[in-house]
Amino acid sequence: MSILVTGGAGYIGSHTCVELLNAGYELVVVDNLVNSSRESLKRVEEITGKSLRFYEVDLLNRKALTKVFKENKIDAVIHFAGLKAVGESVYKPLEYYHNNITGTLILCEVMREFRVEKIVFSSSATVYGDPKVVPITEDAPMGVITNPYGRTKGMLEQILTDIHTANNNFSVMLLRYFNPIGAHESGRIGENPKGIPNNLLPYITQVAVGKLVCLGVFGNDYDTKDGTCVRDYIHVVDLAKGHVKALEKMIKSPGKVDIYNLGTGIGYSVLDVINAFEKVNDLKINYVFKARRAGDVPACYADPTRAFNELGWKAQKNIEDMCRDSFRWQKNNPNGFEEDNSDIVVRK
Ligand code: NAD
Ligand code: WQD
Repeated sequence: MSILVTGGAGYIGSHTCVELLNAGYELVVVDNLVNSSRESLKRVEEITGKSLRFYEVDLLNRKALTKVFKENKIDAVIHFAGLKAVGESVYKPLEYYHNNITGTLILCEVMREFRVEKIVFSSSATVYGDPKVVPITEDAPMGVITNPYGRTKGMLEQILTDIHTANNNFSVMLLRYFNPIGAHESGRIGENPKGIPNNLLPYITQVAVGKLVCLGVFGNDYDTKDGTCVRDYIHVVDLAKGHVKALEKMIKSPGKVDIYNLGTGIGYSVLDVINAFEKVNDLKINYVFKARRAGDVPACYADPTRAFNELGWKAQKNIEDMCRDSFRWQKNNPNGFEEDNSDIVVRK
């Protein structure tokens, strides 16, 4: 069975490619490398000992995308490709809406042309806004989303659902990720943010290796156990395995729109994460408290029961595993992916 993975060179995509190859799927990866490197895919092949087909193609390029579908028999699509920086999306709404929404519309149109009727979509816990109740079940109402990036997720969930309404054979898996962190335990692939990281874990790891001086903890006056925000951090390898389970379910019982939270169900505060990171890696993280960051909600964590009951999926790795693996990746790759890829086959 052959799976098209859009955005497969990125952080979550590359880890999912590893799990899909290990599970025996054939992979076609499409990525324009705007936020990634082809080296990550080379390392996916190295980790698994298997190969994949890579196309350096932008989803906005309908002609190039059509060629990918012509050259490969695609059974299902896992759609990661998109821009994801919350803060940047506020300043570049047109770029975010165009890339994420138009890119997905073109993908779905080409899928229709080639009668490919299965899609797994990377959604986000951000669609819940500031949840009234935690842990959050999938039936919780969509909340007020505070930025264009998050709104693209809400809109795309609706668009994919509408496509299913018009064609009941069109199968949709909406996977709402909580806070993916960690890296493959080989230390060969991981998150590689450009510039100064916006997210907590990459910031902490860069302080730990001395690339950054001091972590700012955004707010210590929230109504939480220690005043800092609480999140559901999930190891990226567990998240990747969730995609394999979701794909299996979609293949076995097609023609539905399914929604699953992918989280651990455990909420950790920012200080919990710092403490776990220090303990497991035997070091100290320099931090100071700063003002609250606009748009942050006090507490957000999943009720992952539905994914357990219906997909047979449950996160296995704990916060120590996440902190250990994040640090190993950062230490082994202080400059992210080295770009010496003369031997990889790139299709255009
Ligand atoms: P990432 O930036 O590492 O991966 C996204 C990939 O998509 C990158 O490789 C990028 O080059 C590619 N891409 C972007 N626009 C493209 C286009 N028009 N055509 C082709 N390729 C394109 O991000 P990630 O963390 O791996 O996230 C993957 C998906 O999961 C995204 O849709 C993101 O919004 C979603 N998500 C991420 C998180 C998170 O915290 N990382 C949480 C919830 C949801
Ligand atoms: C986690 C906690 C910060 C950085 C984001 C997106 C969300 C989803 C996942 C895509 C918060 C605090 C952070 C720092 C800090 N992505 N923090 N100092 O905001 O929960 O979720 O990524 O869909 O949509 O919004 O993740 O890692 O940015 O923050 O104190 O330098 O760490 O305030 O409490 P967030 P994060």
